[in-house]
Amino acid sequence: MKVVAIVGSTRNESYNLKLTKYIQEKYKERLDIEILNIRDLPHYDQDIELDPPESVTKLKRKIAKADAVLWVTPEYNYSIPGVLKNAIDWLSRVEKVMFGKPSWIMGATMGTLGTVRAQQHLRDILFCPGVGSPLLPGNEVYIGAVHEKIDGAGNLTHEPTIKFLDTVVDSFIKWFNQQQPFNNR
Ligand SMILES: Cc1cc2nc3c(=O)[nH]c(=O)nc-3n(C[C@H](O)[C@H](O)[C@H](O)COP(=O)(O)O)c2cc1C
Repeated sequence: MKVVAIVGSTRNESYNLKLTKYIQEKYKERLDIEILNIRDLPHYDQDIELDPPESVTKLKRKIAKADAVLWVTPEYNYSIPGVLKNAIDWLSRVEKVMFGKPSWIMGATMGTLGTVRAQQHLRDILFCPGVGSPLLPGNEVYIGAVHEKIDGAGNLTHEPTIKFLDTVVDSFIKWFNQQQPFNNR
């Protein structure tokens, strides 16, 4: 299954990026995960949405070809980072490539609540008519104190989180396979 991952942090040393790379490597026999770049996207602008810059077209093309989207995001000021909202705004217009595209969400933060408020917002956004992405129910991945759970080499070292991710990946694959009729619309 081809999955594209969109990371809500553009910082080089991002824990969310490290988490995504860890998942990409650990589950590579079961999921083909490609991490997409949203750093180069311009601000969403309705005046150019019919003829957008190449970075937007490329992002949309990759999502259109993928089977599913994995969102991995930090929390910024109780919500998702602006850079992530900006990417979704582009995706919600003209060719609505998220429509019917299965999604699942994870998030990590150095604080204790592990992006719970940001993910609540993200779920609402994915439900919007322009986005319309069916979301893996349950299996909410909130990784708090992430700086204590990922080592210098980018490996997840926190055993309960490692085990939980195993169950979430299983759940996602099972759920995805049940979505096929919707997915093939
Ligand atoms: C602008 C900004 C706002 C933040 N707001 C929150 C917040 O509301 N809740 C929270 O738990 N952490 C918050 N943080 C801390 C981030 O979750 C933490 O820096 C995290 O490591 C960022 O993710 P990254 O490592 O993937 O870049 C904020 C950080 C920044 C830079």
